[in-house]
Amino acid sequence: MYYNWEKMTNTEELRVVCNLIRNGEIIIFPTETVYGIGANALDSNAVGKIFAAKGRPSDNPLIVHLADRNKIQEIAQDITEVEQELIDNFMPGPFTLILKRKPIIPDIVTAGLDTVAIRIPENIIARGIITYSGVPIAAPSANVSGKPSGTKIEDIRKELEGKVSAIVDGGETKIGIESTVVKVIDEVPVVLRPGKITPEEIDAVIGKVRIDKNILGTLNKDEVAESPGMKYKHYAPETSCKLVYCKDELDQIFYLKKFIKQYDGDVVVIGVEEHKEKLFLDDQRFISVGKKDNLEDYARNIFSALRKADKIGSSKIIIEGVKMEGLGYAIMNRLIRTCEHDFFEKQ
Ligand code: TXA
Ligand code: MG
Repeated sequence: MYYNWEKMTNTEELRVVCNLIRNGEIIIFPTETVYGIGANALDSNAVGKIFAAKGRPSDNPLIVHLADRNKIQEIAQDITEVEQELIDNFMPGPFTLILKRKPIIPDIVTAGLDTVAIRIPENIIARGIITYSGVPIAAPSANVSGKPSGTKIEDIRKELEGKVSAIVDGGETKIGIESTVVKVIDEVPVVLRPGKITPEEIDAVIGKVRIDKNILGTLNKDEVAESPGMKYKHYAPETSCKLVYCKDELDQIFYLKKFIKQYDGDVVVIGVEEHKEKLFLDDQRFISVGKKDNLEDYARNIFSALRKADKIGSSKIIIEGVKMEGLGYAIMNRLIRTCEHDFFEKQ
């Protein structure tokens, strides 16, 4: 069933959706980062349906979503001082913390690891669903494995409809890229996936922070990833993509033109509004992610833009990169994967 709660949550429908969760079904629901596919995290069978719907590898663990900080101790243990400070400062919000798990969380959720990823979303619909279901909700991003995450229902409806029992539409997600994932190792918060909460913000609270070395690079074949999600293909449309970032704007236009020509113009460019005319492209060949230097708009629009560009069916999608700073770092982390490291950079 499809439910539109963009303007207002319908309490009768909320009851129906929460009953589905309690009865072991899976649903699509909004959070402030991206849409999730959720199931009762304590029900292995239900969680299995998520892996099947996404075609997700079973060794990639899920995030468990709670509505309240007080619930954390029901599924995690041995919480350290640094971890508690992170919880107090960044939850609820676009922030996921890896903690030592309690046995109550089934193996399928954590892919057999002795840790569990926990997030408390801020989005009111997400919190309502978790609260009234009365169970923790395991949820990965709502997309077929490897594809860009869903930030609006119309983008993902086709690929997931029929595989879930309910779709809850809360409109476009506010942030547009997934939560920052952090694990505390030897008392230092280590960012395993960058997001809206930046390393600088974490440093400001804890006084230290590290960024996992695999965030922007590729893993060696035999290396064990701190976060299993790092080793998989991600955020990729069918059309092959190239990422272009030049620090200087004139360089940026020059190289974009050069690459457009290289593909005889059979490209779609995803870029900032101001560049559309400079590149002499029309709406069929140019998809705007917002105004120049507005990283919030860029983050909000990028996954949807990738899906839109893919539908046009060109030989190449050329994506304008951003400065790797703050939210820009999280954006570039996604795009480098999207482009499978086909990245032209001039500093
Ligand atoms: O914003 C978000 O985080 C969204 C919304 C729906 O909450 N969820 C999301 O889930 O992005 P997913 O499954 O697409 O990404 C979860 C990431 C994966 O890279 C996974 O490997 C990592 O978190 N992860 C989960 N449990 C982990 C654990 N115990 N240790 C290390 N990494 C873990
Ligand atoms: Mg995902």
